[in-house]
Amino acid sequence: MFEAPSISTSDKPTLYRELVNQARALMTGERDRVANAANFAALVYHALPQVNWCGFYFFDGHELVVGPFQGKPACLRIALGKGVCGTAATTKQTQLVADVHAFPGHIPCDSASESEVVVPMYDGHDFLIGVWDVDSPVLNRFDDDDRRGMEALVEVWIELNDPTRFEAAA
Ligand code: SME
Repeated sequence: MFEAPSISTSDKPTLYRELVNQARALMTGERDRVANAANFAALVYHALPQVNWCGFYFFDGHELVVGPFQGKPACLRIALGKGVCGTAATTKQTQLVADVHAFPGHIPCDSASESEVVVPMYDGHDFLIGVWDVDSPVLNRFDDDDRRGMEALVEVWIELNDPTRFEAAA
């Protein structure tokens, strides 16, 4: 049983460095990416304060489809270019949203969500894997430290689970 040691620091870069280490330890050796996505979401959800939803949307070749997550039930499918997730996917840019109600076309899965950060997931060869989505019930919850930390977390997930790399390794 993996017991993630609690990370007692208010220093965000330190927190995310430790989270990346824990995510790597949790996923190393496991080849099933759904299992790794489930544990990854649970790890982040329980490590970060003021988060009410976090999870994956995976691209199925046509649209984003909800994957493993923590939080209230969520919308199942998101078209590219729609909502914060679809915008992250098409722009290939992390979306740091201080106030979701001010984001044109925001898709409200949980009415408690006030701010959001969404990281696009590409294998580096223009192959869209999906997005990593984190919601907070607090306005302006996420800053540049959170953006960099979330991008580092996504990078370690892709490093250990990217299907194109994985197939190449098989
Ligand atoms: N808010 C997202 C939809 C996903 S829910 O937050 C889980 C969006 O606007 O794309």
